[in-house]
Amino acid sequence: MNSNEALLASWIKQSQRTVVLTGAGMSTESGLPDFRSKSGWWKNIDPTTVATVEALERNYELFHEFYKTRMENLQDCQPHEGHAILAEWEAKGWVHAVATQNVDGFHQKAGSQLVFELHGSIRSARCHRCSTKVKIESFLSGQTCERCGGKLRPNVVLFGEALPEVAWDQSLSAIRSADLILVIGTSLQVYPVNQLPRMTKGKIAIINMEPTDQDDQFDLAIYNQAGQALKVVDHYLAAD
Ligand code: APR
Repeated sequence: MNSNEALLASWIKQSQRTVVLTGAGMSTESGLPDFRSKSGWWKNIDPTTVATVEALERNYELFHEFYKTRMENLQDCQPHEGHAILAEWEAKGWVHAVATQNVDGFHQKAGSQLVFELHGSIRSARCHRCSTKVKIESFLSGQTCERCGGKLRPNVVLFGEALPEVAWDQSLSAIRSADLILVIGTSLQVYPVNQLPRMTKGKIAIINMEPTDQDDQFDLAIYNQAGQALKVVDHYLAAD
């Protein structure tokens, strides 16, 4: 075996428990922008004006427009082959779980069963004041809460908000007991998810288009498109 992809495939085969940690770079090949690379959302929009509770409360029109656009984008996009490969690896016992920062639901849509959504989901919505669950259509059409008149919002975690406790606890315990963490498509800039890779006793590998500030702590780095790299690793896994 003479490539990083081949080496990663051998680690996956040997590992008793592999946990995958993904970010927005896992969905760019599906047509969804990421946040911090040159074509990312935060290159044109200041995140504090749309992705904070203050933005929701003080500038609902911009907040609503931003999330409405992202929800509508999602309707025209699908998981790509990389998502399907991760789901297949779970079915074959090569992946235990996927912890994701993504809110697009693509891992589940591609067939992954154990998915921890650390930053919530844009596929459902609630009232910001009384937390009543509402239909996405009610949010998209700009309605207020029928129960209390409050503002409606997607179930994504906004900057400064606590992460969903169950997803966090499950991700942390899976990562703590993993032999291998495979990080895919994230700049690892956002706390506390960026602390997760160092919580494992096992090996850490990353597949990313560009280096992150944690790469020196990783055991292996593949700088390539997620879909392409996963296809090559899958080829080596199938070859054994
Ligand atoms: N294949 C591999 N890597 C990719 C690809 C791809 N096709 N496309 C982009 N990338 C890489 C980028 O180079 C970048 O390093 O994925 C990384 C994406 O980083 P961010 O845009 O910062 O996204 P993410 O790390 O998921 O952001 C974390 O920040 O804004 C918040 O809540 C939001 O969940 C998000 C969090």
